[in-house]
Amino acid sequence: MTRTRAPVTGIAPARRRTFQRRLLSWYRRHRRDLPWRRTRNPYHILVSEIMLQQTQVDRVVPKYREWLARYPSLEALARAGAREVREAWYPLGYNIRPVRLRDIARAAIRHHSGKIPSTREDLLALRGIGPYTAGAVLSFAYRKDAPILDTNVRRVLRRIFLGDRAAPSDKLLWSLSEALLPRGNAYDFNQALMDFGATVCSARRPRCPGCPLSRQCVSYPLADASAARSGGLGA
Ligand code: ADE
Repeated sequence: MTRTRAPVTGIAPARRRTFQRRLLSWYRRHRRDLPWRRTRNPYHILVSEIMLQQTQVDRVVPKYREWLARYPSLEALARAGAREVREAWYPLGYNIRPVRLRDIARAAIRHHSGKIPSTREDLLALRGIGPYTAGAVLSFAYRKDAPILDTNVRRVLRRIFLGDRAAPSDKLLWSLSEALLPRGNAYDFNQALMDFGATVCSARRPRCPGCPLSRQCVSYPLADASAARSGGLGA
Protein backbone atom coordinates (compact mmCIF):
# COMPACT_ATOMS: atom_id res chain seq x y z
CA MET A 1 0.00 0.00 0.00
CA THR A 2 1.26 3.48 -0.76
CA ARG A 3 1.52 5.56 2.34
CA THR A 4 -0.04 8.94 1.90
CA ARG A 5 1.65 11.09 4.48
CA ALA A 6 2.49 14.68 4.96
CA PRO A 7 -0.82 16.47 5.25
CA VAL A 8 1.15 19.50 6.45
CA THR A 9 3.31 19.82 3.37
CA GLY A 10 0.77 18.42 0.94
CA ILE A 11 3.51 16.80 -1.09
CA ALA A 12 2.13 14.45 -3.71
CA PRO A 13 3.25 10.80 -3.37
CA ALA A 14 4.52 10.62 -6.97
CA ARG A 15 6.64 13.71 -6.50
CA ARG A 16 7.99 12.40 -3.22
CA ARG A 17 8.94 9.08 -4.79
CA THR A 18 10.67 10.75 -7.74
CA PHE A 19 12.65 12.95 -5.38
CA GLN A 20 13.69 9.95 -3.24
CA ARG A 21 14.64 7.87 -6.26
CA ARG A 22 16.73 10.56 -7.91
CA LEU A 23 18.48 11.63 -4.73
CA LEU A 24 19.31 8.06 -3.70
CA SER A 25 20.53 7.15 -7.15
CA TRP A 26 22.77 10.23 -7.18
CA TYR A 27 24.07 9.25 -3.72
CA ARG A 28 24.95 5.72 -4.80
CA ARG A 29 27.29 7.22 -7.40
CA HIS A 30 28.67 10.17 -5.48
CA ARG A 31 28.62 9.43 -1.79
CA ARG A 32 31.61 10.59 0.19
CA ASP A 33 33.54 7.91 1.99
CA LEU A 34 33.68 9.37 5.49
CA PRO A 35 34.95 7.53 8.57
CA TRP A 36 31.72 7.94 10.54
CA ARG A 37 29.88 6.18 7.74
CA ARG A 38 31.90 3.04 8.43
CA THR A 39 30.60 2.57 11.94
CA ARG A 40 27.35 1.96 13.74
CA ASN A 41 28.76 2.83 17.13
CA PRO A 42 26.39 5.47 18.56
CA TYR A 43 29.16 7.14 20.55
CA HIS A 44 31.40 7.45 17.50
CA ILE A 45 28.51 8.81 15.45
CA LEU A 46 27.67 11.32 18.16
CA VAL A 47 31.30 12.50 18.26
CA SER A 48 31.22 13.09 14.50
CA GLU A 49 27.92 14.95 14.61
CA ILE A 50 28.97 17.22 17.45
CA MET A 51 32.23 17.99 15.66
CA LEU A 52 30.33 18.64 12.42
CA GLN A 53 27.90 21.07 14.06
CA GLN A 54 30.11 24.07 13.34
CA THR A 55 33.06 22.67 11.43
CA GLN A 56 33.73 21.61 7.85
CA VAL A 57 34.07 17.92 7.02
CA ASP A 58 37.74 18.23 5.95
CA ARG A 59 38.75 19.63 9.29
CA VAL A 60 36.68 17.14 11.23
CA VAL A 61 38.08 13.93 9.68
CA PRO A 62 41.56 14.00 11.31
CA LYS A 63 40.22 15.28 14.61
CA TYR A 64 37.54 12.59 14.71
CA ARG A 65 40.21 9.90 14.33
CA GLU A 66 42.47 11.50 16.90
CA TRP A 67 39.64 11.90 19.42
CA LEU A 68 38.58 8.27 19.14
CA ALA A 69 42.15 7.08 19.51
CA ARG A 70 42.33 9.05 22.73
CA TYR A 71 38.79 8.37 23.98
CA PRO A 72 37.69 5.13 22.34
CA SER A 73 34.67 4.65 24.60
CA LEU A 74 32.15 6.58 26.66
CA GLU A 75 33.92 5.33 29.79
CA ALA A 76 37.27 6.70 28.66
CA LEU A 77 35.71 10.07 27.87
CA ALA A 78 33.70 10.20 31.10
CA ARG A 79 36.93 9.98 33.11
CA ALA A 80 38.51 13.01 31.40
CA GLY A 81 38.75 16.47 32.93
CA ALA A 82 37.29 19.60 31.32
CA ARG A 83 40.63 21.17 30.54
CA GLU A 84 41.94 17.98 29.03
CA VAL A 85 38.99 17.56 26.67
CA ARG A 86 39.23 21.19 25.60
CA GLU A 87 42.87 20.62 24.71
CA ALA A 88 42.04 17.44 22.84
CA TRP A 89 39.39 19.34 20.88
CA TYR A 90 41.78 22.09 19.78
CA PRO A 91 41.78 23.63 17.16
CA LEU A 92 38.14 22.93 16.37
CA GLY A 93 36.79 25.89 18.34
CA TYR A 94 33.46 26.37 20.13
CA ASN A 95 35.03 25.00 23.27
CA ILE A 96 31.84 24.23 25.04
CA ARG A 97 31.29 21.26 22.71
CA PRO A 98 33.95 18.89 24.13
CA VAL A 99 32.82 19.54 27.69
CA ARG A 100 29.19 18.93 26.74
CA LEU A 101 30.26 15.73 25.01
CA ARG A 102 32.13 14.63 28.13
CA ASP A 103 29.02 15.44 30.22
CA ILE A 104 26.88 13.40 27.84
CA ALA A 105 29.27 10.47 28.35
CA ARG A 106 28.85 10.82 32.12
CA ALA A 107 25.05 11.04 31.85
CA ALA A 108 24.97 8.00 29.56
CA ILE A 109 26.91 6.00 32.12
CA ARG A 110 24.88 7.23 35.07
CA HIS A 111 21.39 7.23 33.64
CA HIS A 112 21.32 5.12 30.47
CA SER A 113 23.23 1.91 31.31
CA GLY A 114 26.38 3.18 29.63
CA LYS A 115 24.75 3.78 26.25
CA ILE A 116 23.84 6.76 24.13
CA PRO A 117 20.04 6.91 24.40
CA SER A 118 18.00 5.70 21.46
CA THR A 119 14.83 7.78 21.84
CA ARG A 120 14.32 11.36 20.74
CA GLU A 121 13.03 12.34 24.16
CA ASP A 122 16.06 10.99 26.04
CA LEU A 123 18.48 12.46 23.51
CA LEU A 124 16.90 15.92 23.68
CA ALA A 125 17.13 15.86 27.46
CA LEU A 126 20.94 15.90 27.16
CA ARG A 127 22.58 19.32 26.96
CA GLY A 128 24.40 19.71 23.69
CA ILE A 129 21.93 17.57 21.73
CA GLY A 130 19.34 19.55 19.78
CA PRO A 131 16.74 18.35 17.27
CA TYR A 132 19.26 18.02 14.43
CA THR A 133 21.75 15.92 16.42
CA ALA A 134 18.94 13.79 17.86
CA GLY A 135 17.70 13.04 14.31
CA ALA A 136 21.23 12.25 13.17
CA VAL A 137 21.88 9.82 16.04
CA LEU A 138 18.49 8.14 15.60
CA SER A 139 18.85 7.69 11.85
CA PHE A 140 22.61 7.03 11.59
CA ALA A 141 23.30 5.03 14.74
CA TYR A 142 19.94 3.39 15.44
CA ARG A 143 18.65 3.28 11.84
CA LYS A 144 15.32 4.78 12.83
CA ASP A 145 13.09 6.70 10.44
CA ALA A 146 13.99 10.06 11.92
CA PRO A 147 14.24 13.25 9.85
CA ILE A 148 17.09 15.74 10.06
CA LEU A 149 17.32 19.45 9.41
CA ASP A 150 20.59 21.35 9.38
CA THR A 151 21.82 24.29 7.32
CA ASN A 152 22.47 22.18 4.23
CA VAL A 153 19.19 20.31 4.38
CA ARG A 154 17.24 23.54 4.98
CA ARG A 155 18.75 25.06 1.87
CA VAL A 156 18.11 22.00 -0.32
CA LEU A 157 14.47 21.65 0.74
CA ARG A 158 13.77 25.36 0.50
CA ARG A 159 15.26 25.65 -2.97
CA ILE A 160 13.69 22.55 -4.44
CA PHE A 161 10.22 22.71 -2.92
CA LEU A 162 9.57 26.26 -1.81
CA GLY A 163 11.58 28.48 -4.10
CA ASP A 164 11.93 32.06 -3.02
CA ARG A 165 9.11 31.94 -0.55
CA ALA A 166 10.36 34.15 2.25
CA ALA A 167 11.98 32.38 5.18
CA PRO A 168 9.89 29.22 5.64
CA SER A 169 9.42 28.24 9.25
CA ASP A 170 11.46 25.45 10.74
CA LYS A 171 8.17 23.73 11.48
CA LEU A 172 7.40 23.54 7.77
CA LEU A 173 10.92 22.42 6.89
CA TRP A 174 10.92 19.71 9.56
CA SER A 175 7.62 18.36 8.29
CA LEU A 176 8.94 18.42 4.74
CA SER A 177 12.07 16.53 5.81
CA GLU A 178 9.89 13.98 7.57
CA ALA A 179 7.40 13.70 4.70
CA LEU A 180 10.16 12.97 2.21
CA LEU A 181 11.87 10.21 4.23
CA PRO A 182 11.66 6.81 2.54
CA ARG A 183 10.51 4.48 5.30
CA GLY A 184 13.25 2.04 6.26
CA ASN A 185 15.99 3.95 4.45
CA ALA A 186 16.49 7.10 6.48
CA TYR A 187 20.19 6.38 6.87
CA ASP A 188 21.07 6.70 3.18
CA PHE A 189 18.47 9.35 2.52
CA ASN A 190 19.69 11.69 5.28
CA GLN A 191 23.36 11.19 4.41
CA ALA A 192 22.43 11.83 0.77
CA LEU A 193 20.65 15.09 1.61
CA MET A 194 23.75 16.29 3.41
CA ASP A 195 26.17 15.33 0.64
CA PHE A 196 23.88 16.80 -1.98
CA GLY A 197 23.69 20.10 -0.06
CA ALA A 198 27.45 20.20 0.46
CA THR A 199 28.55 19.31 -3.06
CA VAL A 200 25.75 20.09 -5.57
CA CYS A 201 23.18 22.39 -4.01
CA SER A 202 25.82 24.44 -2.23
CA ALA A 203 25.17 27.84 -0.71
CA ARG A 204 27.32 30.02 -2.92
CA ARG A 205 27.71 28.10 -6.15
CA PRO A 206 25.01 25.54 -6.75
CA ARG A 207 25.84 23.24 -9.65
CA CYS A 208 22.47 23.37 -11.39
CA PRO A 209 23.54 22.16 -14.83
CA GLY A 210 23.64 18.40 -14.48
CA CYS A 211 21.79 18.42 -11.16
CA PRO A 212 19.67 15.26 -10.95
CA LEU A 213 16.90 17.20 -9.22
CA SER A 214 16.78 20.28 -11.43
CA ARG A 215 13.60 19.16 -13.19
CA GLN A 216 11.82 19.06 -9.86
CA CYS A 217 13.34 22.22 -8.51
CA VAL A 218 11.21 25.33 -8.33
CA SER A 219 14.30 27.52 -8.03
CA TYR A 220 15.88 26.24 -11.23
CA PRO A 221 15.22 28.65 -14.08
CA LEU A 222 14.14 25.87 -16.43
CA ALA A 223 12.21 23.98 -13.80
CA ASP A 224 9.43 21.72 -14.89
CA ALA A 225 6.45 23.97 -15.49
CA SER A 226 4.22 21.81 -13.31
CA ALA A 227 6.63 21.98 -10.37
CA ALA A 228 6.89 25.73 -10.73
CA ARG A 229 3.11 26.24 -11.04
CA SER A 230 2.33 24.21 -7.98
CA GLY A 231 4.90 26.03 -5.87
CA GLY A 232 6.92 22.85 -5.76
CA LEU A 233 4.54 20.91 -3.61
CA GLY A 234 2.47 19.38 -6.38
CA ALA A 235 2.90 16.26 -8.48
N1 ADE B 1 27.41 17.17 8.47
C1 ADE B 1 26.72 16.81 9.56
N2 ADE B 1 26.60 15.47 9.62
C2 ADE B 1 27.22 14.98 8.53
C3 ADE B 1 27.45 13.67 8.02
N3 ADE B 1 27.01 12.60 8.68
N4 ADE B 1 28.13 13.54 6.86
C4 ADE B 1 28.56 14.64 6.22
N5 ADE B 1 28.40 15.88 6.64
C5 ADE B 1 27.73 16.06 7.80
